[in-house]
Amino acid sequence: KRSLKVAVLGCGAVGSQVVRLLAEQHDDLAARVGVPVELVGVAVRRLDAPRDVEVPDGLLTTDAEGLVARDDVDLVVEVIGGLEPARTLILSALDNGASVVTANKALLAEDGPTLFEAAAKAERDLYYEAAVAGAIPILRPLRESLAGDRVTRVLGIVNGTTNFILDKMDTSGAGFSEALEEAQELGYAEADPTADVEGFDAAAKAAILASLAFHSRVTAADVYREGIAEVTAADVASARDMGAVVKLLAICELRPGPDGQDQVAARVHPAMIPRSHPLASVREAYNAVFVESEAAGQLMFYGPGAGGAPTASAVLGDLVTVARNRLADTRGAGESAYADRAVLPMGET
Ligand code: HSE
Repeated sequence: KRSLKVAVLGCGAVGSQVVRLLAEQHDDLAARVGVPVELVGVAVRRLDAPRDVEVPDGLLTTDAEGLVARDDVDLVVEVIGGLEPARTLILSALDNGASVVTANKALLAEDGPTLFEAAAKAERDLYYEAAVAGAIPILRPLRESLAGDRVTRVLGIVNGTTNFILDKMDTSGAGFSEALEEAQELGYAEADPTADVEGFDAAAKAAILASLAFHSRVTAADVYREGIAEVTAADVASARDMGAVVKLLAICELRPGPDGQDQVAARVHPAMIPRSHPLASVREAYNAVFVESEAAGQLMFYGPGAGGAPTASAVLGDLVTVARNRLADTRGAGESAYADRAVLPMGET
């Protein structure tokens, strides 16, 4: 092949940064991949919407189906988000022989197995590092670097908006609504802040983390979920008096089941953690994931968990990997290598 052709679905906060990086890093990407990575189309809902990047002439289209059906497209980047049309487009892309990179945590958490099976059947890559904790490389370490170890627990601050809100309440004494407004003004919150404040976004990420950490199939429905809307300024102040801080934690762990076999439990809820714990120092909209494993011990991954450019960084990293695999005519291992470990029903976590 003389070049690899990429289609990008979605040109919002993340998509526009993906388009920018593809242009700005064109030569470096070509050097890293081995051939130029050429943008051949960007699917959007409206051609005339304002956007943060200038898309080269002729590349914008409202026909996403038509774009993924093109037989010259090698790689599809899905950054639309939400369940539909993202699911149908990813499935068509794989079916049509393209490799896929997605940042879609909601879809992976809801229906990951369908996507993994489609990728396996098509013998194509499906990578999604950007789906959890934005720029922080956490999925690849869980899937690859720790593949020979036994991960027992993953504790994460995986939602930037709620961390920003709780941090604001802690440092300024602000109430929940006032802090939420500020998070929205700064553009951290999802279009509908319910996904952030009610913990749906963190629960989706917990499902993805637990699936990879414990080689199991955990979906959003398996994750116990409680958001931060009920956390009051008084709760935050009393935590402070006790030398603690309130954080929205995603907790994924292995528990001994009744039959002696390990079971997976995943939950998201506000928790008081001592100020001496490394997760207590995660401020503003940053994310961190704390991993405990048998041989490695304790590890912490920290960085920007939201925002267009940080999330696009993770997308581009995946793009380089799947592009290299594509040229080598191979697939990355592991996304669908599950061990079918039992998952505790939600009410019992
Ligand atoms: N709204 C999400 C957050 C964006 O605040 O973390 C990244 O998934």
